[in-house]
Amino acid sequence: MSSFSLKIMSSSTLAIAALLLWVSMLRGSTAQLDANFYNTTCPNVLSIVQQVISNASQTDIRIGASLIRLHFHDCFVDGCDGSILLDNSSTIQTEKDAAPNVNSTRGFDVVDNIKTALENSCPGVVSCADILAIAAQESVVLAGGPSWTVLLGRRDSTTTNLTGANTDIPAPSENLTTLIAKFSAVGLDTTDLVSLSGAHTFGRAQCKNFINRLYNFSSTGSPDPSLNSTYLATLQQLCPQGGNGSVLADLDPTTPDGFDNNYYSNLESNEGLLQSDQELFSTSGAVTISIVSNFSSNQSAFFASFAQSMINMGNISPLTGSQQGEIRLDCKLVNGGSSYIYESTYDLVSSS
Ligand code: HEM
Repeated sequence: MSSFSLKIMSSSTLAIAALLLWVSMLRGSTAQLDANFYNTTCPNVLSIVQQVISNASQTDIRIGASLIRLHFHDCFVDGCDGSILLDNSSTIQTEKDAAPNVNSTRGFDVVDNIKTALENSCPGVVSCADILAIAAQESVVLAGGPSWTVLLGRRDSTTTNLTGANTDIPAPSENLTTLIAKFSAVGLDTTDLVSLSGAHTFGRAQCKNFINRLYNFSSTGSPDPSLNSTYLATLQQLCPQGGNGSVLADLDPTTPDGFDNNYYSNLESNEGLLQSDQELFSTSGAVTISIVSNFSSNQSAFFASFAQSMINMGNISPLTGSQQGEIRLDCKLVNGGSSYIYESTYDLVSSS
C-alpha cells in the first residue's frame, strides 16, 4: 500500500471517529426517559404520588380527571416540562391565564401536596413535569383504567409560553382536520387522537364549552344535528340560554367517574358532549370512525392503545440531561424566583 493511500485511510478514519464522537455527544445531551430513573434516588416515588391522589379523591371524585388534563395541557405546549404549573412573577407569564386553562384547569393544590410529600422523602430529586406524568397514570388506575410503565427523567422548564398555550391546545369547537393537525404538530397520530380523547370517559365540562351546540350551532339557529335528541333536551335543561356558563356536565353521561370505553359507545349513540368528541364519529368518511368502533366494542384494545398513546404524549420534547431545565423545589416557581406577583411602581421607586 502506498504512503498516499495510507494517508487517505487515516484521515477518513479520523473523520469517522470525529463523527461518532459528535453523534454520541448529541445523544448524551438528549438523554432518553427511563422507567427506572428514580430507582436509587427516590424508590418510592410512585407510591407517594398514588397516596396523595388517593387521599385527595376521598373528597374530590373529579381530581384524577383534572390531573391527567394538566399533563395533557403541559405536554402540548413546548413539551412535558411542567411549564403549566408556574405562577405569574416578575419573569413569568403564567400559562394558567391562557384561554384553555383559565377558570378551567384545576388540581394545582394537589400537585403541590405531592411535591411536598416528595421533598420530604427525596429532596430536590423529582421534577414537577414527572409528577404530572405519574399523577396521570395513577389517576387512570384509580378510576379503573389501564396501567402503564411511566417513563421518567423530565426536567422542569424555567420559562412559560402563554401564546403557545393559547394556540397549541385544541379547542372544543374545532373540527377534525384541525384536531388532527394539532396532534400531528406534536408528533401524535390519528390513533393517538382517538385513544387520548377517551380520557373524556371521566371528568366534567362547563356549559360554556358546548352551549354553541345546543341552540345555535355554526350560526344555523338550530342545535348541532349530530346531537342525540334526548341528550340534547337534557343538556338544554342543564344549560339554559343566558344561564350560568360554568355549570358542570359529565363528559361521559353513562359512567361519569369510571375509566372505561363507554365514551366510544356514547359517540356511537350521538352522545359526545363536546363537538371535538362527536367529530371523531360523525365526520363523514373520517378515518377515525373505525377506530371509535373498535374501541367501543373492545375495551382491551382501547386500554392498550390509550396506554401507548399516553407514553407517546409523555415523550413530547422532554428536557433531559443536566444541561437543560432544573428540578423545581416548588412547582409554582422557578428556583430562586420570587413569589410576588407585581411589584408596584411605588416599591420600585422607593427601593431605588
Ligand atoms: C382532542 C382534543 C381535546 C379537546 C378539544 C379537549 C377539550 C376539553 C374541554 C373543553 C374540557 C372541559 C373544560 C372545562 O369545561 O372547564 C375538557 C376536559 C377534560 N379533558 Fe379534554 N380535550 C381534548 C383532549 C384531551 C386529552 C388528550 C386528555 C387527556 C389525555 C383530556 C382530558 C380531559 C379530562 C380528564 C377532562 C375533565 C377535567 C376535569 O374534570 O377537571 N382531554 N377537555
